[in-house]
Amino acid sequence: MKRRSFAAMLAGTGLACMWATPAWSQGKKLVIGFAQTGAESEWRTANTDSVKSAAAAAGHELKFSDAQQKQENQIKAIRSFIAQKVDVIILAPLVTTGWDTVLKEAKAAKIPVILESRNVVVKDPTTWTTFVGSDFVEEGRRAGKWLLEHTKNTTGDVNIVELQGTVGSDPAIDRKKGFDEVIKANPRYKVIRSQTADFTRAKGKEVMEAFLKAEGKKINVLYAHNDDMAIGAIQAIEEAGLKPAKDILVIGVDAVKGAFEAMIAGKMNVSVECSPLLGPQLMEAAVKAKAGEPLPRWIKSIEGVFPAEVAAKEFPNRKY
Ligand code: AHR
Repeated sequence: MKRRSFAAMLAGTGLACMWATPAWSQGKKLVIGFAQTGAESEWRTANTDSVKSAAAAAGHELKFSDAQQKQENQIKAIRSFIAQKVDVIILAPLVTTGWDTVLKEAKAAKIPVILESRNVVVKDPTTWTTFVGSDFVEEGRRAGKWLLEHTKNTTGDVNIVELQGTVGSDPAIDRKKGFDEVIKANPRYKVIRSQTADFTRAKGKEVMEAFLKAEGKKINVLYAHNDDMAIGAIQAIEEAGLKPAKDILVIGVDAVKGAFEAMIAGKMNVSVECSPLLGPQLMEAAVKAKAGEPLPRWIKSIEGVFPAEVAAKEFPNRKY
């Protein structure tokens, strides 16, 4: 007896066309590789959860890699995703540079790469499809504008210490840029110390201790590039016998629940929002990228600013 192929058996049944159509274009599952930076902050954990739950809700298979804040681990993960022939790669690049070769490899394998939460600087911008994330320069400006407004009725120098994020990452570069751009309009505002604390609570505390040792009561303001570092620094301020949010104004970025708790406790003044809830937009972009549909270069998050005065009212609405 001659065996008929499965496709031949389906011919004329209407199912043949389904058989020939790739699964992803029928709203079925994609295989997505996600190269995450690590779990350095409350923000990052919320970001990972958002991507994992959006992938599950859409029925996609997500291969997750935690790079533990090491770029070489992210590069290894991308190469492994290429070897496994995933449909789409999502990359949260730890730093902006050093991606040219591996992104070219993904392009050669015809696997679209979507950037999320951080951006890259590469020679060939066609090696990535779209960036889903925030305007970090604007976040820095918002932090600076809050400070100018909040201190407009004071006199004398305003001495600021700055805790920067991971060296070479665009949220660290751009949050500094936006903040400096706003405060330089008035010579009273001086950044007297600025150092990285790698976006973590532990380093935020450690670096703030060093700032306090060197500058003591001279410090009027702490500007931290994320809430985790601000929360670590608050502990250092208290241990130095000073009152956070009163003796030293505390400005953070992200607007995570931990910052709202600190604001409600009267220990932090403001947090500029940066949304980690990028999962649903990423899944939509992944389907379009796989289908070869055009995508904007930047799918921008819409965000606000939360001063301590609104923290208690807003807290129940916070999702991360
Ligand atoms: O890339 C976004 C930044 O990374 C967040 O502001 C920070 O908390 C995180 O670690």
